[in-house]
Amino acid sequence: MHGATLLSLLAAGLASVTAAPSCKAPSGNDPVATPAGEIKCPVVFDGRLPASAALTDFDSYSTSLFNAEYVKGNNLKWSEIIKFPSALPAARFDHGDDHKPFEVTISDQSIFMQQRGFRRAGLQFQGDTNNGSPGSRGVKTLHFSLRWDNQRPLNLSHEYLLTWHETAAYDANQFNFEAGAIIGQSNLPRDTYKVLDRNNRQVWSTPILKDAWQNFAIRLDFDRNTLQVFYSQGNEPLKSVTNAVYNNNAGEGQYQIGILKKPTGTSDVVNSGYQSPNLDEGLIYGSLFVEDSANNCISL
Ligand SMILES: *[C@@H]1O[C@H](CO)[C@@H](O)[C@H](O)[C@H]1NC(C)=O
Repeated sequence: MHGATLLSLLAAGLASVTAAPSCKAPSGNDPVATPAGEIKCPVVFDGRLPASAALTDFDSYSTSLFNAEYVKGNNLKWSEIIKFPSALPAARFDHGDDHKPFEVTISDQSIFMQQRGFRRAGLQFQGDTNNGSPGSRGVKTLHFSLRWDNQRPLNLSHEYLLTWHETAAYDANQFNFEAGAIIGQSNLPRDTYKVLDRNNRQVWSTPILKDAWQNFAIRLDFDRNTLQVFYSQGNEPLKSVTNAVYNNNAGEGQYQIGILKKPTGTSDVVNSGYQSPNLDEGLIYGSLFVEDSANNCISL
């Protein structure tokens, strides 16, 4: 089917489902009035999946945008982990004809190395080396859009890391983007997406939506040691939702994008604790890239 036709059909379907008498229809549902967001800055890592991509493209370095071997269940291939959701509107910086969203899933098989406490599937950009990566220097902005999958919901009684940047020494994460019940912080609501700083202090949060794209950007200044969050819904332009707050961004390392589900009922989350069996959970990603935000450049 022709892309533009498909988009119009999707938009029409969405409008009829979401229309409420007292509510102005969000302009983000109208692809004609609101074209896709344009990337304004040099792209350092592009995780926007080509519309023509096959699942097996994730299994090989020659065809994947990501690391083909990590970070996933030892006996799983990426082509068994990733799913292509059907019939979704394009995320903000994806172009419907050129890119498509993808879903990262976890199951009982999602045990990496000997980490029996976690269930995890995390993508790393090809070229984002643990030491000396361009992604860990200057000022960089990680963009990603998320969409909830009602068929494979996360269990918000657990703590989930969704995207983060881990130091080269694997001894800290410069930031964590999370969902669910944060272990040791029961004052924080479960049903939100949260940005936590290097010390696991919440910087910002927003309610999880079940039926709309949510667009996030995290700008990391590795020289000045700050972090700033940008956010929007649907196809709206992103807006800054925090100041550039102090954050210790030292230690280089790598971005990781996907799902890491922590267990409950243990002080040793890596190796023990409870995970409910027959797990079938996922989260849909789109509009994924890292851009160079030198000279205050940022795509909104
Ligand atoms: C969610 O997680 C809790 C804690 O592990 C578990 O007791 C519960 O059964 C889970 N719910 C579902 C629907 O899997």
